[in-house]
This record gives sequence, C-alpha cells and structure tokens, in this order.
Amino acid sequence: MIASLVPRCSTLCDIGTDHAYVAIYLAKKEIADKIIAADIKKGPLLQAWKNIDAFNMGDKVETRLSDGFAQIADGEAECAIIAGMGGETIAEILENEKGCKYFVLQMQTAHKHLREYLCTHEYVIEKEAVCREGNKMYTALLATRGNSPKLTDVQKEIGPCLIASTPPLFYDYVRYRLYEINSILEKMGAVMSEKRKQYENLKLEYEKLLEGESR
Ligand SMILES: C[S@@+](CC[C@H](N)C(=O)[O-])C[C@H]1O[C@@H](n2cnc3c(N)ncnc32)[C@H](O)[C@@H]1O
Repeated sequence: MIASLVPRCSTLCDIGTDHAYVAIYLAKKEIADKIIAADIKKGPLLQAWKNIDAFNMGDKVETRLSDGFAQIADGEAECAIIAGMGGETIAEILENEKGCKYFVLQMQTAHKHLREYLCTHEYVIEKEAVCREGNKMYTALLATRGNSPKLTDVQKEIGPCLIASTPPLFYDYVRYRLYEINSILEKMGAVMSEKRKQYENLKLEYEKLLEGESR
C-alpha cells in the first residue's frame, strides 16, 4: 500500500526504514534512481543492510544513520517515506524536512494529529489508500507542499481523500474505527466529559458515513 503511493522520483529517502523491506521493494520496481534507507538506530540499520545485500540491491539502496532528516542534505531527496510510526512522531520528523516534493506517510496512531499538522503547515493531502492485514487495517497518504483546505474532525480521523473516493475497503475501515471508538467509550464509563462528547460526536459522524454504503 505504501509503495502504491510513491511517485517515480530521482532520490527517495525512507525515514525509519527498520528492515528496509519497503526500500528494497521500491528498488526492485526501479521507482527511484537512488534510495536512502535511514533509521535512528544502528540495530535496524544493520538488519536493513543484511536484507538489502540478500536482495542484491546494494548498488541502489544506501543505509544511513539519521534522526529524522538530520543526515539528509537540503534538496537531496525528492520524496520521503515515513511509515509505521505514530502520527505525532511523524509530525515531529516533518518539522525538519529537507525540501522534499512528495511525502508518503503511514501513521499507526494519532491520525487526527498528523492530518491537522499537515493542513496547518502547508501540506496538501493528494491521495490516500487503505488496506487490511489480518484483523488490522491501515491507511497511508501522499502529501505535497501547498495550501490545504481546512479539514473537519471526521476528515482528519478517516482521511479526506478516502471519504471523497470511497475505495472498496472504505466502509470496512469506517466500521473498524467505529469499533475502536465504541471500545473507548465503554472504557470511559457513563460520566459525561468533554472528551466523551468528542468521541460521541465522532461516532455519529462515522455512522453517517456508513449510511452511504446502502445508497
Ligand atoms: C515500526 S518501524 C517501521 C518500519 C517501516 N518504516 C515500516 O513501515 O514497515 C519504526 C522504525 O522507525 C525508526 N525511528 C523511530 N524514530 C525515528 C527517527 N526520529 N528517525 C529515524 N528513524 C526513526 C525506529 O528505529 C524503527 O526502526
């Protein structure tokens, strides 16, 4: 899913590459002339290097020890992937981005936080994708630099492009997120609080989205 959002580019950096599977896959697909597989920790980078070597991709993928974009030069990468982290960490890493044109982001948590960050820091969400693995569902997005329209809370949670395009897994994904909210509400108990009100409003918004399924 992440790879499907990556445009053809000159140099690509995968920040937080870990095993480098995405970088290797993209190198095999020849999506970029050069790929930098970067991670903040030496352990994952060593494993990344072993995997890159095992797939004979050493001439296309370079490993680099880097906290976020710290070791990426200004203008060095046309596209950045930041995947498999919380939305807050991704937003922090984006604070020091180095002039990339495309950003492929995949957050595990804090969807609202990251999309809020993007639309208030001159990023536009261009495309979104959703997938399922086992009993978990994930989304990813492609952003570019520019002025974004203001997003509503439900757009920040579910994704403006997913809501607009309703891809095949869309309603399953909304149900998945609704299930999450119901579990949170159950744990919160019956006491009415500002937080509970926010979740209940969101729940209503998700239910409204699901009405579209029968139309
Ligand atoms: C869960 S893995 C995700 C791996 C891969 N990107 C994926 O989506 O499958 C998160 C990786 O991000 C790395 N990481 C966390 N914070 C980072 C930072 N500030 N800069 C670079 N790498 C970071 C971790 O060391 C870890 O290897």
